[in-house]
Amino acid sequence: AKTLAGRRVLLTAGPTFEPIDPVRGITNLSSGKMGYALARACRDAGAEVTLISGPTALPRPAEVHFIAAGSALSMHAAVMEAVPHHDVFIAVAAVADYRVANASAEKLKKTPGQAPTLTLTENPDILASVAALPSAPFCVGFAAESHNLLAHAQAKRERKRVPLLVANLAQHAMGADDNEIVLLDDHGQHPLPRMDKTGAARAIVAHLAGMLPIR
Ligand code: C5P
Repeated sequence: AKTLAGRRVLLTAGPTFEPIDPVRGITNLSSGKMGYALARACRDAGAEVTLISGPTALPRPAEVHFIAAGSALSMHAAVMEAVPHHDVFIAVAAVADYRVANASAEKLKKTPGQAPTLTLTENPDILASVAALPSAPFCVGFAAESHNLLAHAQAKRERKRVPLLVANLAQHAMGADDNEIVLLDDHGQHPLPRMDKTGAARAIVAHLAGMLPIR
């Protein structure tokens, strides 16, 4: 039986791109591989899937609704518009914490001896916004940490109020083809063996499917 049959799943994946000017920006090393693998795993489990993705080099998964997003603000807007039609939200994107407040509408010119100053301002937390909605879908978060993984991940699960949080070590996960993850839920910690992102995605889907309310 398909474990996510009849469920509608919304995911974010990849990095965001925060413009500095029309040709430059601030981004990060997220490849999008984990989010795309999860989108395919949800589809294969029978879900109707919407993937909202920052810029990646990956092929679009077949039979998945695909929405391209650039900045955190545009990803946030796309998620808030799509979320009412979904039962599950999985936030995998590495959303930039800050954007450039003084981005330039014109390409910045180099002026020798006068480096421009970028001012940063906080981006909305997409996962926390969705989890706080009155009729929030079942929310899954990710935590990529470089140190004290489980302590930070547990704190993040409580702060963002998500029933399921997937923790991984950033230096192992970013850009890699495989991943070693720990699932955190109300029952505690569930470490999974190191496996490729397709296998990890299937394992996350299996765990998630078991947590969804019966309809
Ligand atoms: O707080 P931190 O960025 O480490 O939390 C990571 C989790 O929150 C991931 O699930 C990520 O997709 C989500 N997130 C988000 N919007 C942000 C920052 C993080 O949805 N602005």
